[in-house]
Amino acid sequence: MIRRGLVTQPLDRITPPPALDESRVRADFPILDRPVGDHRLVYLDSAATAQKPRAVIDAMSDFYFRYNANVHRGVHVLGGEATAAYDRARELVRQFLNVPRVEEVVFTAGTTAAINLVAQSWGGASLRSGDEIILTGYEHHSNLVPWQLAAHRAGALLRVVPLLADGTLDLEAYERLLSGRTRMVAVSHASNVLGTISPVAQMARMAHEVGALVLVDGAQSAPHLPVDVQQLNCDFFACSAHKCYGPTGFGVLYGRQELLRRMPPWIAGGGMIEQVTFDATTYAAPPARFEAGTPAVAQAIGFGAAIEYLQQLGLDAVWAHEQALLRYATDRLSEVEGLRLFGNAPMKVGVLSFVLGTIHPHDLATVLDAGGVAVRAGHHCAQPLMQHLKVPATVRASFGVYNTRDDVDRLVEGLAEARQRFGR
Ligand code: ALA
Repeated sequence: MIRRGLVTQPLDRITPPPALDESRVRADFPILDRPVGDHRLVYLDSAATAQKPRAVIDAMSDFYFRYNANVHRGVHVLGGEATAAYDRARELVRQFLNVPRVEEVVFTAGTTAAINLVAQSWGGASLRSGDEIILTGYEHHSNLVPWQLAAHRAGALLRVVPLLADGTLDLEAYERLLSGRTRMVAVSHASNVLGTISPVAQMARMAHEVGALVLVDGAQSAPHLPVDVQQLNCDFFACSAHKCYGPTGFGVLYGRQELLRRMPPWIAGGGMIEQVTFDATTYAAPPARFEAGTPAVAQAIGFGAAIEYLQQLGLDAVWAHEQALLRYATDRLSEVEGLRLFGNAPMKVGVLSFVLGTIHPHDLATVLDAGGVAVRAGHHCAQPLMQHLKVPATVRASFGVYNTRDDVDRLVEGLAEARQRFGR
């Protein structure tokens, strides 16, 4: 799709992908069988965390049942099997994000940890007084507060790309913010509140022209569309396993090799060293340099299984399914009297944030929950965006591969019931 001269990749598919088989996909997620009260569970909170397919649950329990061991340490059989599975997970991540070299994949505790790693390690070593970091008006706190800390330490400044009325970025303002002082552009690939997909490749090209680096927070994009860090042309990319149908407490940082090699360690301990004496230590090459301590072996294996599951479905098919659902839900919600939807960017992931009349979002979410519909209500860890939207909170419905039109209908029914109950 071409918009304002921007090519948004990789969404311009000519041949439609094969459709997802809804009932087969739903059968892959055992939790969807549980009732909530007297209702079938309608899970519309995948942007907070996605449910796990049996393949992920089985891969993780198989590790604990059959070959639990630490990795890269023991010489015993279990240690060898665990190490092989753990290393294979890193290769699966490499393929998932189309990272050039496996050494450029750093395992972290999640997106938040990955961004903190860069802000502390790269930021600590590189930022100087008067330098500038550009963020956007819809950043999650995890791609804002780490930069605030790094900026305060260095005497650097944060600059913010403002939003247009439809929830897209004001790229003309972005262009004006870029200068020789810009050292880093840190941008969400997709907003967790508005769903807006940022034109990352274009923004990266513009940032590189002034010598700045680009970090992409991919927490809300990686589960929904094919990500190619080479096409995005970013320097760093972070995402979490748990939003991609994998386990919590795990994620990855992609970093360009020449940058990672120049970055100092951030957390120190076992596994990240080359040589240690009481006087001095030399550090291992990346990614080990950034992975001190016993790694999250089961989580890495679980994430590998989640990636294989997504690849089996096909990210193109996942994208097409969720986009069709987003269109349907947008139409249905627009019929609900008094509903105000935030964010109608032409390129969005399946996230719908809204308020209904004067009903407080937490009250609304509670009524929906009583009908078995799970949504998130709150500021979504994006308080500056709430200030911009002039609301304290929103209700957010977000989709995963297992959602259907029937789920959207149940949401709309729940909203009608809330309107009746609150009479506003
Ligand atoms: N960052 C996650 C969300 O937006 C938790 O819900």
